[in-house]
Amino acid sequence: MKTTPVIELRNVTKCFSHSSPPAVTALEFAAGAGEVVGMLGENGAGKTTTLRMIAGLIRPSSGQVLVNGHDTQHEPSQTRRSVGALFGGAVGLYDRLSGRENIRYFADLNGLSAPDAHGCTNDLIELLDMQSFADRRVAEYSSGMKQRTALARALVHQPKILLLDEPTTGLDIRSATIVQRFVQRRKSEGKLILVSSHNIEELETLCDRVLILHSGQLRHVAYRDETGAYALRDLYSQIVESTG
Ligand SMILES: Nc1ncnc2c1ncn2[C@@H]1O[C@H](COP(=O)(O)OP(=O)(O)O)[C@@H](O)[C@H]1O
Ligand SMILES: [Mg+2]
Repeated sequence: MKTTPVIELRNVTKCFSHSSPPAVTALEFAAGAGEVVGMLGENGAGKTTTLRMIAGLIRPSSGQVLVNGHDTQHEPSQTRRSVGALFGGAVGLYDRLSGRENIRYFADLNGLSAPDAHGCTNDLIELLDMQSFADRRVAEYSSGMKQRTALARALVHQPKILLLDEPTTGLDIRSATIVQRFVQRRKSEGKLILVSSHNIEELETLCDRVLILHSGQLRHVAYRDETGAYALRDLYSQIVESTG
């Protein structure tokens, strides 16, 4: 029996304006539970646009985005419940609240019961190694602390699908490692994780496969070879050089 993919994009194109080329053209892929799928591409390749469409924040110009078999355009509430997304780092945190209060506030907004909100907030603080600063005001945080708080906040409702747009860009090594470990942990719990990056080593470490985007097109899907290695850097150079 064929199972429904958790995420499926069918011939998805997104045009922001008639005067510029589409941000994403005829994109097709599917992904299932327990997978970490990477998206590699230079600035402007279409990574964020793709993730925003899957999150239901913007609509495709044509084609379909399905989450658990539901069209995100027609059943947006289905998408909201199952997706947790982190875009653009720590925007939208409340500076005057502590990290813990920020996370807890979003847990309440997402309709978690008081005991669940309390439990999920504590779990994330522990998992993201935030104990030493979680009760200080966000205004005093480093960028790595803010990013971890933003990640916890985005995922506090325990979504089955995690969309992480460049989650480690600009982070120090320690915070980046904590975020990477977090991704691996969520994968082992059967979540589907889509992660964009222009850090090739990071994608090679984390991902089961990597979608290479260039000029809004899916140019290649890279898998590990039998030794577990990717050749992402070479592949990527070939793709970029062949198209300019
Ligand atoms: N809101 C928007 N309005 C107009 N153009 C946009 C908008 N968002 C993205 N684009 C354009 O779409 C293309 C893909 O951008 P984006 O998805 O942000 O790429 P990436 O995340 O890979 O850097 C770029 O050419 C970008 O300028
Ligand atoms: Mg982007």
